[in-house]
Amino acid sequence: MKNSAPSPLSLADLEGTPPTGTLLFNVADLPDHGGKEIIFAEGRLRTSIFVQKTDDAIAVFLNHCPHAGTPLNMLGDRFLDIRGKNILCRTHGATFDRISGECIAGPCKGRYLTPIACRIENGAVISL
Ligand code: FES
Repeated sequence: MKNSAPSPLSLADLEGTPPTGTLLFNVADLPDHGGKEIIFAEGRLRTSIFVQKTDDAIAVFLNHCPHAGTPLNMLGDRFLDIRGKNILCRTHGATFDRISGECIAGPCKGRYLTPIACRIENGAVISL
């Protein structure tokens, strides 16, 4: 049985994160290929999200692999595989579609990254 994509998560429902309506990213500041990470708090309340931008879409996910719960990246804003095509979890090598967040290969194939609820307004990505 195929898993379905989870409902978007509101940052306001997590501890140590900003309230609804917070500017998360300016679209113009995002790299064309690759991602950008935002960390809201460190220590026990650490929450990290990241954005992926393609030519025609923007997706924001919780930086939490559905396999074992580790952050996907090891270093800063590097989230993509060597071909720059899919999101790569650097712990055990799962790969995910950049926009849907579906795991397409690896130990959690068929599961999804958690999308973050947001809207794009006047070139800015705003939390919902
Ligand atoms: S924690 Fe991501 S593939 Fe295992």
